[in-house]
Amino acid sequence: MAVMRSVIRGVGAYLPRRILTNAELAQMVDTTDEWIVERSGISERHIAADGEKTSDLGIHAAHQALVRAGIDPIEIDLVICATATPDRTFPATAVRIQKELGISKGAAFDVQAVCSGFVYALTTADALLRTGQFKRAIVVGAETFSRILDWSDRTTCVLFGDGAGAVVLEAQPQTGGRNDRGILNTIIRSDGRYEDLLYVDGGPGSTKTVGHLRMNGREVFRHAVQKISGVIEETLIATGYAADEIDLFVPHQANKRILDGIAKKLNVSPDKIVVTLNKHGNTSAASIPLALNHAFENHKLGEGKLVLMEAMGGGFTWGAVLARW
Ligand code: UT7
Repeated sequence: MAVMRSVIRGVGAYLPRRILTNAELAQMVDTTDEWIVERSGISERHIAADGEKTSDLGIHAAHQALVRAGIDPIEIDLVICATATPDRTFPATAVRIQKELGISKGAAFDVQAVCSGFVYALTTADALLRTGQFKRAIVVGAETFSRILDWSDRTTCVLFGDGAGAVVLEAQPQTGGRNDRGILNTIIRSDGRYEDLLYVDGGPGSTKTVGHLRMNGREVFRHAVQKISGVIEETLIATGYAADEIDLFVPHQANKRILDGIAKKLNVSPDKIVVTLNKHGNTSAASIPLALNHAFENHKLGEGKLVLMEAMGGGFTWGAVLARW
């Protein structure tokens, strides 16, 4: 039976030019390169320049994704930006991306689910495309976490970075069979009981400030392996695939030890897991499309590849998307 699927037509990414190394951080707070690498796997991160906004990063990534898709921006009728660091409290960062791409039709809005933002945004775009409300979407994950870090807190400032990634989706009829291309399954979850384990201590409706990121890393870590493994297992059950049929795991990039823990729990070969966090740390909603872009540029993402994306972050929020490239 023919079904509509959201087929991924192109991917792009952008990292700000400035690289901040672990050695530089060791001059700023009481830490060492050894500690950061051993506990997180991160060696360096990129930092947006003064005046360089989240939307600026997102626009670069979106342009690249559109060029690779061979799609003119005016053919896009849906722009979704996943971000927890918007340019302004409002309007949405997505409308500036829309404007800069020269699009003035359809809809543009932000999705806020912190590190799970890209999974939430893909899920939203997929639902809107499959119901026929829109034809082509650009989904951007873009963050400037450097703006909300407490640069005197060594437990958090060493972990995050800035960046953006984007994918272009197009609604296409598929057969409904096992070889369908496009997004095959999405799962999003949240549990607000954990809101105080990873949060920003400010906001327009409470303190009237932007605030700084606060995290109980140990507790977040404990939940991450469990929740992410759970949602991967749910995806496999829902779609009938075995873990070894997945060609590529594209996880949110928070901590190498979390990725190793999931690989061990699910018995996944490490060479099937895309790891980029060593080069840009945790970029929140941008990390999955940055990792997709890395896989694409390294020829790991050809047509027909079965790709499982997953994330977990503040809220808690978590989720997974299974797609055939
Ligand atoms: O994307 C959203 C999801 N976020 C995450 O998934 C992050 C999850 N959490 C983590 O990745 C890890 O918990 C961290 C990397 C944040 C921390 O690793 P850990 O192995 O859980 O370390 P810890 O928090 O238990 O701290 C161990 C020690 C502490 O010292 P004491 O109390 O044992 O004396 C910390 O004060 O390491 C100390 N420490 C540091 N030492 C050097 C904490 N940060 C640093 C640092 N440099 N930057």
